[in-house]
Amino acid sequence: MSAPDRRHGIGVARDALRLALEDGLSESELPPGFAAAGLLHDVGKVRSRLGTFGRVLATVLAIGFGRSRACRWQGRFGSEVAKYLAHDRIGAELLEASGSDQFTVRWAREHHLPAEAWQLDRVIASYLKEADGD
Ligand SMILES: [Fe+2]
Ligand SMILES: [Fe+2]
Repeated sequence: MSAPDRRHGIGVARDALRLALEDGLSESELPPGFAAAGLLHDVGKVRSRLGTFGRVLATVLAIGFGRSRACRWQGRFGSEVAKYLAHDRIGAELLEASGSDQFTVRWAREHHLPAEAWQLDRVIASYLKEADGD
């Protein structure tokens, strides 16, 4: 992962843990893979070669036109945009293949879904979502 993505992951893991503890949970009440979910939720971005400008453009396209339409763009830039926007699915596949905890795999897959679509415990996942800040 790039240095900014690693810093982001560390910040999310740290803040999510803090939010859970402030809410009265103990570390032993958190599922295995909780901290790793914060650290690695965006790991699928390693498959995209977009730089900062490309990432911003991909995000704006996804917001403006919808993720699925932005993913259908053709050409080299289009395929990098598609890979970037699919980082949730790609990351979940990488984590699954490397034997990560199921919580870590599922959060990578679900972290851009609306809360209503989460399969994970919503309270626990909400700490990660709030810490992610997007
Ligand atoms: Fe993400
Ligand atoms: Fe993130």
